[in-house]
Amino acid sequence: MTTPFYGSDFDALQQFDPDIAGVLISELDRIRGGLQLIASENMSSPAVITALGSTLTNKYAEGYPGRRYYGGCSEVDKAETLAIERCKSLFDADHANVQPHSGASANQAVYGAFMKPGETILSMALPMGGHLTHGTKVSFSGKWFNAVNYGVDKETEDIDYAEVERLAKEHKPKIILAGGSAIPRLIDFEFFRKLADEIGAIFWVDAAHFIGLVAGKAIPSPVPYADVVSFTTHKVLRGPRAGAIVCKEEHAKAIDKAVFPMMQGGPQMHSIAAKAVNFKECATPEYADYAKQVIANAQQLATSLGEHGIRPTTGGTDTHLSLHDLQGIGVTGADAEKRADAAGIVLNKNAIPFDPAKPNIASGIRVGAPCVTTQGMGTDEMKQIADLIHTAITEGDGTPEHAAAKKVRAQVTELVERFPAYPR
Ligand SMILES: Cc1ncc(COP(=O)(O)O)c(C=O)c1O
Repeated sequence: MTTPFYGSDFDALQQFDPDIAGVLISELDRIRGGLQLIASENMSSPAVITALGSTLTNKYAEGYPGRRYYGGCSEVDKAETLAIERCKSLFDADHANVQPHSGASANQAVYGAFMKPGETILSMALPMGGHLTHGTKVSFSGKWFNAVNYGVDKETEDIDYAEVERLAKEHKPKIILAGGSAIPRLIDFEFFRKLADEIGAIFWVDAAHFIGLVAGKAIPSPVPYADVVSFTTHKVLRGPRAGAIVCKEEHAKAIDKAVFPMMQGGPQMHSIAAKAVNFKECATPEYADYAKQVIANAQQLATSLGEHGIRPTTGGTDTHLSLHDLQGIGVTGADAEKRADAAGIVLNKNAIPFDPAKPNIASGIRVGAPCVTTQGMGTDEMKQIADLIHTAITEGDGTPEHAAAKKVRAQVTELVERFPAYPR
């Protein structure tokens, strides 16, 4: 009897291509061997990864379920329909498009649906917590559209809502965009909705970072307020590396046309199947508990780092990430990243609001709790991790041979052995 083949066959890969098989093994060792605190990363489940590594990668399916430009789509139609229905139900949305290949592709489609080249968008500035695709000059978004940026208030370090209102009334943008990649606090969606209505703009939320917390009902949802919500599926949400869009029914056609055929070709059906699996996972009570624990852990980490003089901007966090100002301890973001890495702690340097340092140096770090929470760690472990970060970045010199790095790494090893990633 032959064994059924659904997808992954690691033995075959190892035999044919030991180089790439080796990378798969050493990357898993890397993930298991250290603490992963990158706020935009997570560890998707074996079920999600199985769907990703399946024969669905082979199928061309340009179009949408029941309306394809290729034959043979009966089975992938089932996968995409499940993904759409589960996504709509998870977020209580009128319409879902699950085809975007990534967060940037999803965002490109939103521009495509609503804007013509040269028109104006009001969005958060990248150095204040926004994202490259929100109108920076190095991205298509800033090259093809006129981006006006708001920032954060100097005192609170949270979104400067007065500035948002002033700029919206002055520039009358076609779209007002909320969301970004380094915003620790909840966003006042009701404020943005009212403002958009007042000036006749589309209200778009890029929820890439926090949509997983919305899925777990741990924070308020932007879906009732926004015309359109784009997101990635691989951050707190814990799905495959990809994107998706939900929107009001009145925008459904424009969004679908903008994703395909305007911005993308054939959808990645293996990834769409993995999104369906992920949306099913997110509807479970276990995932809701996870989302709440992510916030509790992020808050503990922010508080404990603050007690070490590593100041959380805005005074803390309501979400899965915190942003920390290192100026008080006299370490740059770049040095902190390197020193933590040498001790087995993976985090990233990050600009803080009104940062005096260049972006490639930065005065801050961004830390997130999605991965360590997936591994089952709780608030006690967050206190320990804050101590380890502090030791690594104030005593280390950026080399793994330094005594401080060795001391911290030994404790990191003990922690990840107690809370293994992808336990065998
Ligand atoms: C707010 C936001 N939007 C969009 C993206 C882009 O997602 P991707 O890297 O999947 O293109 C990111 C990625 O970090 C993000 O943080």
